[in-house]
Amino acid sequence: MTKEVLLSVNGEPRPARASAATTLLHVLREQLHLTGAKCGCGYGVCGACTVLIDGKPARSCLTLAAMCEGQSITTIEGVSVNGELDLIQKSMLECGAVQCGFCTPGIVITAKALLQENPKPTREEIRGALAGNICRCSGYVAIVDAISAASEASR
Ligand code: FES
Ligand code: FES
Repeated sequence: MTKEVLLSVNGEPRPARASAATTLLHVLREQLHLTGAKCGCGYGVCGACTVLIDGKPARSCLTLAAMCEGQSITTIEGVSVNGELDLIQKSMLECGAVQCGFCTPGIVITAKALLQENPKPTREEIRGALAGNICRCSGYVAIVDAISAASEASR
């Protein structure tokens, strides 16, 4: 049985339908057509589905949509402003940190939360923050370079 839930996604009220078991990732992708968050594993391991919930990174594949009423959800679609890429997104492109791109939305979201909390992270701190985001294409060096460069550019 489903019921209507009213979510706040990227600053807008977004009604959806969810059962007690419907994940936020399912609602985002299948109902709201926000397909930036990816389903890599579906059980909390890869980080490809990461979104911000009240500013904190969260696995949307493990989050029940019905529990998100009253919380502020930000997806990768909400990161750019007026079509302009966010600083971290630009930096990822400039540093060659995007290969297949499947992990990139989750990494950008995780990096945004990191820089919000710690605007000057060390490379070790960046690596630590990314521990739950799997990239199977890169060796992470370019990704850490990109987040580091975004941090420098925002000072
Ligand atoms: S799809 Fe959510 S952690 Fe992999
Ligand atoms: S760029 Fe392909 S998985 Fe990270």
